[in-house]
This record gives sequence, structure tokens and C-alpha cells, in this order.
Amino acid sequence: MDDKFISLESVSFSYKKGKMVFKDFSLSLDRNSISIILGENGSGKTTLTKLIMGILSPQKGEIFIEGKSNQGVSLGEMGKSIGYLFQNPDHQIFGSSVMEQLTWSSSLVSNDNENYHEKAKYLLKEFGIENIKDTYPFYLSMGEKRILAIASVMMRDVKYLIFDEPTSSLDSNREEVLVNMLLNLKQRGIGALVITHDYDFSKRIGQRIIHLEDGRIEDELI
Ligand SMILES: Nc1ncnc2c1ncn2[C@@H]1O[C@H](COP(=O)(O)OP(=O)(O)O)[C@@H](O)[C@H]1O
Ligand SMILES: [Mg+2]
Repeated sequence: MDDKFISLESVSFSYKKGKMVFKDFSLSLDRNSISIILGENGSGKTTLTKLIMGILSPQKGEIFIEGKSNQGVSLGEMGKSIGYLFQNPDHQIFGSSVMEQLTWSSSLVSNDNENYHEKAKYLLKEFGIENIKDTYPFYLSMGEKRILAIASVMMRDVKYLIFDEPTSSLDSNREEVLVNMLLNLKQRGIGALVITHDYDFSKRIGQRIIHLEDGRIEDELI
């Protein structure tokens, strides 16, 4: 069986008022490894992740997740198999406290109250944010918001992760925890696509570094 988790086939995309971001673009990503995308601001990294998640639709070409077209699949449905971290953490923080943020979405999909509370406590501890568990997320620093958004994504049991710039404004301790978590998940067969500007971070976690420039890619295998 094909071990490609995600495939983009001859995808072309432009925003309504803008230049073409991708023209005849193809890329496949393995299920069990961590792939990195590096590229200048404006090179199309976020657009690529939104195309994969089906938040944006290509004008041409197709995108397959586990061999099935992602067209018409809702973001909610997609979220069951792919955990997506938005570049801006404000786009996925809705809870009225840090703890509630972590538990509310799980409470919708699971009846196992005990289990998701335990998981939330574990993530709070690992990421060093137990002390702010009752804080209203609006009052958090950018780094705290980022780590809360990451923890929220980690609450779900998914098959694959897509993280758009997870390390921006993270301190080195939290970055270390993130590195270990991603490597642990990979060992359990959960791969990821991680977007970052940080080449050292890329080399620590990635098996494949994809350089994106003007909608074209150049691969570097680690
Ligand atoms: N909502 C939008 N409307 C029009 N153009 C956009 C929009 N979002 C991004 N762009 C443009 O698309 C290109 C790629 O952007 P983006 O995917 O955000 O790049 P990156 O994440 O690599 O910084 C840029 O030229 C950017 O200005
Ligand atoms: Mg971006």
C-alpha cells in the first residue's frame, strides 16, 4: 500500500486578488515521518497548509489525504485525522480559561471525562503552564498562547499533525518539550508537517526539509 499520507497533484492556486501562489505544484508527504517546510515570508507556506486542510480550494489539480480527495470534506471532519496548528494562535483559542480551552473540544468528541482531564493536566505540566490553568486566555503572552494552542491540538488523537510556525515566540524550554513530543509521536507512527524559519530546529526533528521558493520546492533529506 501507498505510504503517502498527503498528496498534492498538479495544484494551481491564486487568491482572488493576488498573484499565483502555486502553479502545477505537486508534493507527497509520508505518513510516519516529520517533514519540514522552510521558506521566506510570503513564499506560500501557510497557503499550502490551508490547501491541505481544505480551508482553501485549488483552482486546478487535486489534493488527496490517505488516497481520498479532500474536496467537500469539512474542517471538523478533517480535524479528526489531522491536528492543525494555525500560524495565529488566536484563531483557535476559544475557552474562557486555559484548562477549559484544553478540555472543551475533547468533551465534545469523548465521553471519557476522566481521561481527557488527565491528558490536559499532563500537557499543562509538560509545557510548564500549570500555574496559568485558570487564566483567561486573552491575558496570556504570545508564547503562552502559542503553547496553549499547541497543547489544544495535542489533546486530540490524530494520525498526523500540521504545525504552522509552532516555535515562533516560544522559549527554549518549551521548544525542547515540543521537540520531544514530536519525536515521541513519530515513534508511535504519527508524522507531521512542520513549518518553521528555524533551521536548527528543523534538523533536530525533520527527516526531510523542503525548501519552498516561488511555489517551487527543493528537497533536502536528512
Ligand atoms: N488572504 C489573502 N488574500 C490575498 N493574498 C494573500 C492572502 N493570504 C496570503 N496572500 C499572499 O499569498 C502569498 C503567500 O502567502 P502565505 O501563504 O501566507 O506565505 P507564508 O506563510 O510563506 O508567509 C503572499 O504573496 C501573500 O501576500
Ligand atoms: Mg505563514
